[in-house]
Amino acid sequence: MEKIQSLTGMMDLIEDKANKADTANGIFYTENILKDIFETYSILEIRTPALEDSSLFKRSVGDTSDIVNKELYSFTDKNDKSITLRPEGTASVIRSIIEKKIDNESNKFWYLGPMWRYERPQKGRYRQFSQAGVEILGYSEGIAELEIVSIICSINKALGIENSILKINHLGDKESKEKYCNALKNFLMPLSSKLDKKDIQRLNTNPLRVLDSKSSETQEILKDAPKINDFLTDQSIDLLNLVKNTFSEECNIEIDHTLVRGLDYYTGFVFEAVSSDLGAQDAYLGGGRYDDLCKQLGGKDLPAIGMAIGIERLSLLTKTYKKNRTLISFIIISSNLEPKAYKIAHNLRSINSSIDIDVQLSDGSLKSKLRRANKDNASYAFIIGEDELKSENIIVKSLNDENSEQIIMNISEIENFIQNIK
Ligand code: HAM
Repeated sequence: MEKIQSLTGMMDLIEDKANKADTANGIFYTENILKDIFETYSILEIRTPALEDSSLFKRSVGDTSDIVNKELYSFTDKNDKSITLRPEGTASVIRSIIEKKIDNESNKFWYLGPMWRYERPQKGRYRQFSQAGVEILGYSEGIAELEIVSIICSINKALGIENSILKINHLGDKESKEKYCNALKNFLMPLSSKLDKKDIQRLNTNPLRVLDSKSSETQEILKDAPKINDFLTDQSIDLLNLVKNTFSEECNIEIDHTLVRGLDYYTGFVFEAVSSDLGAQDAYLGGGRYDDLCKQLGGKDLPAIGMAIGIERLSLLTKTYKKNRTLISFIIISSNLEPKAYKIAHNLRSINSSIDIDVQLSDGSLKSKLRRANKDNASYAFIIGEDELKSENIIVKSLNDENSEQIIMNISEIENFIQNIK
């Protein structure tokens, strides 16, 4: 029979009991740290469906983006409706707040979940990947920019990421963006025979996106093109300097006027964090301000700024991986003792919620069970046999220290012992 395998660019994540910073354990650890950080900023969780009406992404992420042009997982459902697996989370968050009629409120939301983009898989680039996102809604340009960068600094610090650059730019206010787009268009139009089809399309619909072109010929032409910094207002330049100066001691921040993001909805401050430790796919988070999106999707005029973090990439950079919980491997020596001994384990578990008690459910010799406990990286083996059950004792063996003697403890000593494990 032909083997059924996972789809290209999609991976299984299987947690391992041993305390390893490999893919799955590292990813789960990183996700938990992010959730803790979001909580410390008093950001609330939002969950939206993985599937959305296809037009949501066309009207938000935009027709000129690679995502909408060639990377969407779109299908028709049984009712012939075109639906799409979300390629990102921002559009869904805005759709949701409009639908719930809270698009006139200020809110801070975070989300974490899978996204789908039909890209060519390579290191750090998958077709199903996870993003953690933050959307700060209802606050105009200013302190919200500082809050987003503050969160990024906290993430870098908590995960021990040092080799990283936070690139920031400003796409201009409405007027200066328009002036710049016109200047860019006027410069590029006479040279359009040298541009590829995609860049010509971008030039007509969203000229800023030409700056993001992958074509080396276009990039060569752009060297002489007008630069955005010559069009920015003092207010926009001041904001970039404010962000840089506020966090420069903690975070390596660079103003990069060539940074334009790959999605159409951005309006002002934009950023991307990159690390050369990641190889070609070096951006581990990105985002910016998108003040027009809510109105564009039929909602109120709601200023907004946000970011999304690529969990797989972030976990590759995570240096602080450690599992904080203590594992106790609970070994019952003889099968006719199981129910009574199991009940002891059940009762012990409720004493300290920061320890894990793994009752070894399989048959097997004490030796093989101890081998298993070591393999799982357990800190202690609790062993219970016929004699121990009768005398209400448990043998405690420390597995972290090879030379330590095993100790026999009665139930109240054990309870005390467990209570004191940090
Ligand atoms: P984005 O830059 O398209 O922005 O994605 C954010 C992050 O997701 C990237 O920096 C990268 O780390 C990760 N990522 C993207 N594609 C892949 C992939 N194929 N495989 C692995 N990781 C990937 C957004 O999605 C915006 N929604 C961010 C945002 C939120 N802007 C405002 N609010």
